[in-house]
Amino acid sequence: MNDLVVAIDGPAGSGKSTTGRALAKRLGLKTLDTGASYRAITAAVLNAGIDPYDQEAVGALAAAASLDLDSGAVVNNIDVTEQLRSEEVNQSVSAIAANAAVREILVRWQREWVKKHGGGIVEGRDIGTVVFPEASLKLYLTADLEERGARRPEEGAQSVERRDLLDSNRHVSPLRKADDALTIDTTSRSVEDIVTQALATLEARGVIGSVAPPRRGSAFEPDLHKSVFYRFCRSLIYSFLWLLFRPSLSGPGEVPLEGAVVIAPVHRSAVDFGFSIFLTKRKIFFMAKDQIWKHRALGKLLIILGAFPVHRESADRSALEHAEAVLRAGGVLVMFPEGTRQSGNRVMEIMEGATFLAARTGATVIPMGIAGSEAAWPRGQKLPRPHRVFLYASEAITPPTRTAKGRVSRSALRVMTEQLRGALEQSLKDAASIARATK
Ligand code: DC
Repeated sequence: MNDLVVAIDGPAGSGKSTTGRALAKRLGLKTLDTGASYRAITAAVLNAGIDPYDQEAVGALAAAASLDLDSGAVVNNIDVTEQLRSEEVNQSVSAIAANAAVREILVRWQREWVKKHGGGIVEGRDIGTVVFPEASLKLYLTADLEERGARRPEEGAQSVERRDLLDSNRHVSPLRKADDALTIDTTSRSVEDIVTQALATLEARGVIGSVAPPRRGSAFEPDLHKSVFYRFCRSLIYSFLWLLFRPSLSGPGEVPLEGAVVIAPVHRSAVDFGFSIFLTKRKIFFMAKDQIWKHRALGKLLIILGAFPVHRESADRSALEHAEAVLRAGGVLVMFPEGTRQSGNRVMEIMEGATFLAARTGATVIPMGIAGSEAAWPRGQKLPRPHRVFLYASEAITPPTRTAKGRVSRSALRVMTEQLRGALEQSLKDAASIARATK
């Protein structure tokens, strides 16, 4: 399949349509709401007076139906657009969607739609798993039930929850995240932010060209030199961290004296990135939330300390460019693969940013487990408290080899990301067992 297809799956109200439309605009593609195809057939079934649970009759209707979703929804030349979101259709659509014959027919119809339109943004429940397993990008969107209910005020949280339960537990093509899908919780993220991440991923995979090439002359030039002021500030931070947390470092991972390196720590507390200075004497660059830059003096200080701004907590484009510039210049970058602060001793899912950057620049990645920092500075507490912290640096992970064109294949990137996730979780466990043995 050569057409660009983005598969967006997730439960009702998870933000699929909004994200899909914004992404379609940026990529110049059309969107296909496959939920509407199931809803349209449901409306036709109800209009024909057929029992939605009568599998045979419903299957026969679907087999003979002509469907057009390009402007509104038309089944057998009858416009059912008005009915699509009605209470009756909400109540019956999950039964229709659980009908294997209907699914077979609609999946075929959806694939043809994409072929006819030369690709598309396709949203539904089984797009990444069944309809387009070879999609260029798969997103799996989630959001809190409360938020999803609020996004469907006419339907209500209760009905949304009921449909999700039915859609996730049916036998044929249940709602399920594809293994290679990017999970995005849309509860508190802006659409722009999600679109930026999706575009950056497509770009990293070589599916699309640079969406917004860096302007010449304005490129970020990281200063690898440690000024006297930098050394001074750093020794203050070092002393502060040492006094409060007495960090001890173990593990085989070592930051080389020169060359591009990504230090990839687990993220359990606000002080975590500071512990990177116990791994190397080299200057360390890091991303800092852009809200901090509103305070001008603080912003200036942060730049001296090696920071550059990132929009919210996800890796946005310009932040990725800055990060890449650091690595291209042979610098050390700290980046949390988990993206945002997590809790506990598992590393469930990580973002592709660190491996993507390493693959593009040839940098090695050093996973670092940190035990004790969550207890030292629990979420919601204003100030940290003295508590011992144990660091474990794992063996460096090297990026996959690039193709002749200088690209890294999607599958190689995925393998490296999974390798990093595993190593990160192991380093966290190793740090925790050293912490226990020291007690
Ligand atoms: O996205 P929506 O809420 O409009 O979808 C309506 C129903 O259609 C949903 O409850 C499950 C079903 N559906 C499906 O089974 N497979 C899809 N690809 C899309 C929707």
